[in-house]
Order: sequence, then C-alpha cells, then structure tokens
Amino acid sequence: MHEPFHNKTIALGVSGGIAAYKSVELLRLLTKAEARVRVIMTANAKWFVGPGTFQALSGLPVCTSVFEEGDASIRHIDWARETDLAVIAPATANIIGKLANGIADDALTTFMLAVTAPVMICPAMNTHMYEHPAVQHNLDILQGFGHRIVEPDAGSLACGTVGPGRLAAPADIFEQAAGVLTPQDLKARTVLVTAGPTRETIDPVRFVSNASSGKMGFALAQAAIRRGARVILVTGPVALPDPLQAEVHRVTSAAEMADCVLAQMPAADVIIKTAAVADYRPVQTAEQKIKKTADRLSVAFERTTDILKTIGEQKANRVLVGFAAETQHLQDNARQKLAAKNLDLIVANRIGESGSGFAADTNRVTLFFRDGREEGLPLMAKDALAHALLDRVVPLLPAA
Ligand code: CTP
Repeated sequence: MHEPFHNKTIALGVSGGIAAYKSVELLRLLTKAEARVRVIMTANAKWFVGPGTFQALSGLPVCTSVFEEGDASIRHIDWARETDLAVIAPATANIIGKLANGIADDALTTFMLAVTAPVMICPAMNTHMYEHPAVQHNLDILQGFGHRIVEPDAGSLACGTVGPGRLAAPADIFEQAAGVLTPQDLKARTVLVTAGPTRETIDPVRFVSNASSGKMGFALAQAAIRRGARVILVTGPVALPDPLQAEVHRVTSAAEMADCVLAQMPAADVIIKTAAVADYRPVQTAEQKIKKTADRLSVAFERTTDILKTIGEQKANRVLVGFAAETQHLQDNARQKLAAKNLDLIVANRIGESGSGFAADTNRVTLFFRDGREEGLPLMAKDALAHALLDRVVPLLPAA
C-alpha cells in the first residue's frame, strides 16, 4: 500500500499552457515511484515542450495524434484499457471545455472518452479565464462525472495576473494521485499524530531536548492522508516541511504540546503519539542568561504532564497508539506502558540498534497489542512502517 504506483500505468495528458514544463517534473516523480507513464500531448502543448523530452524521461513513445503511419493498432482504445489513472496537467480552458462536452477531436480528447479509470484534472490558466462562469461550469460538469479537480494555486502567473490559476505543485498532484490509487480505509476518520521532540527552556539561550527527528510521525501523517484520513499533526521543533494536506500545529514545550493535543483530541478517532515528549522540565526558567560564575551548576527538574496517559484516561472508543523507546527490557517496559496508559497498541523500538531509532530513515520495531499479541516487524523504511502500522490500526477501529 505504500507503493501505490508500483506496476501501475498512468496516462499523463499535457495540454497547451506555459505550465506544461511542470508536467515534466510530475513525470519524473511518477517514474521515480515506479509508475509506467504514457504521455499524450495536444498539438498546442508541443509548442511549449517537445515530445522528445517526455519520451526520453518516460522511456515510452509519446502520443500526439490519433492516427500514425505504420501503427495498425487502435491506440487510444488500447491505451485507455491499460490505464490505471489519467492525469491531465496542465488542463487548459479549452481541454476542460471539450471534456465537459464530450468533444473528441484529437488524440488526448479521444483517449479521454475511452478511459474508464479514475481521472484527475489539474487546471492552469489566467485567473480571469479560470474564474469565467463557462470554465467553472465545465469544471462542475467534470466533477459530476466523478473526476477529481486539483485546484490551481493562487499567486503571480506567467501572464502577469495575480490570483488563482497557477498549476498545483507537481508534488501536490503526485500526492493526490497516490491517494487515488491507495485504498481509502481511513476515509471519514480523523487521525491525530504527535511528532518530534519538545524543548524545555532553562534560560533565554538554553533548553533541554532530545534527538527525535520527527520523521516517523511525519511519515504516519502523510500515510494516513493518503488513506483518506483528515490528519491533525502536532509537532515539536523539527526541520521537516508540513506534510501536504495535514493540519499542522507547531509547538515547543511539553506543556504546549499537552494543551494542543488535549484541545484537538475530541475530534480524533485515532491518536498516534510518536512524539518524544520531555518527561521533566526545569522547575524555574531563568529570565536572564545564566553566567558561568560557579564551578558547578545544578538545575532542578519537575515532571511534565504525561500526555498519553491523560488521553488514555479519557479514551472512549478512540484507538490509542503509543511509542516506546527503550534501551533495555523492551518487552517488559512496553507491556507495562501499554497497560499504564490504556493503549490499544504500543510500538517499541530499541534505541542504539543500527538503522533504528530517532534520526534514522529506517526503523525496526516490535508491536504489543492490548489483547496480548506481539509482532516483530523487519527493518523497514519509515514510510513503509507507517503504512504497516496503519494496516494494524484500521481493524481496531469501531465500525463507522
Ligand atoms: N509520552 C507523552 N507524554 C509524556 C511522555 C511520554 O505523551 N510526558 C508518550 C510518548 O509520546 C510515547 C509514550 O508516551 O508515545 C512513551 O514514551 P516514553 O518516553 O518512551 O515512556 P515514558 O512513559 O515517558 O517512560 P520512561 O521515560 O520511563 O521510559
């Protein structure tokens, strides 16, 4: 499930707008994700980007006309049958109008009438054109056909206008395409994920924290979005960009994380706490920088709120997943935390193993379930592990 493009055939339709150069980047993202991409261009698109570019990068012939000499096959029908997803990026006002009205006067429009796979339309045009009632009406018609419209971004356009009309970022289109090809087993569910470390301030220039990178939590957030969930991500300070389409709250201290998580909790069906929350914070925060006068310095610490335990006390029918980072007695410690925090599942990893833990891109974990089951997972990339965990969370959800 974490490789939605594996063995999939994507038809990438390119129509004639300046944003056609961005579909080259989209093609790269798709082929990197192991998709087989067939590009179909309109005559006007060739004016912006040559078919040779798409051919070289896809490794497949590019279709630019319905009939080609020496080709006996009915190509648009064959290609349509083999397509798992059709994406038109950029989609001009012209192609949107034709598709909404069933006009088939070139290779791309003819192909699109024959396609039965899901369709994504990514409009890109001048703001006034985009806002014209005719274009909006045609987009409504396409939406009525069940096509997914990828809203254009707002910004300054190549024509000098400022407003909506800029082709959505290729990474965003890619992510939405991944969602279309991924089973939506978290649709209509809200998943609250915490990630990263917290920082507990000692004085204006110093804090106590830990080495959590946030990677596991961000991977879980993105994976849950792909599977159709609304995702609320509460993260401590990390150097990672917001996952696309997540509602992100950036906090600093354990106390801020507690306030934010408890405020967001009522909406959540699933809560996954990957955050490495500080267990202790300085009793006092010095208002001024502490100067190096004494030979020794002691800082007194006090306990922070155990957020997960607090949530566990108000669990209701939510699915609660905790993480446990252990250096010893993994099984005993994990089972004890599972019970003490009223969890459904705890994900335990041994800190100090190579390829595992805080900053790594991979992780090896053992899962302990409330019903006593125990499952060791092999070393996996964190995004693959995110899907493996969600595979195990979905059956724990009460019926929607
Ligand atoms: N956690 C939390 N709030 C805290 C501390 C931890 O919500 N103040 C959550 C973490 O997000 C994680 C789980 O509790 O999901 C386990 O964290 P861990 O630090 O490994 O365990 P602790 O319960 O803090 O126990 P110890 O530090 O003694 O190992």
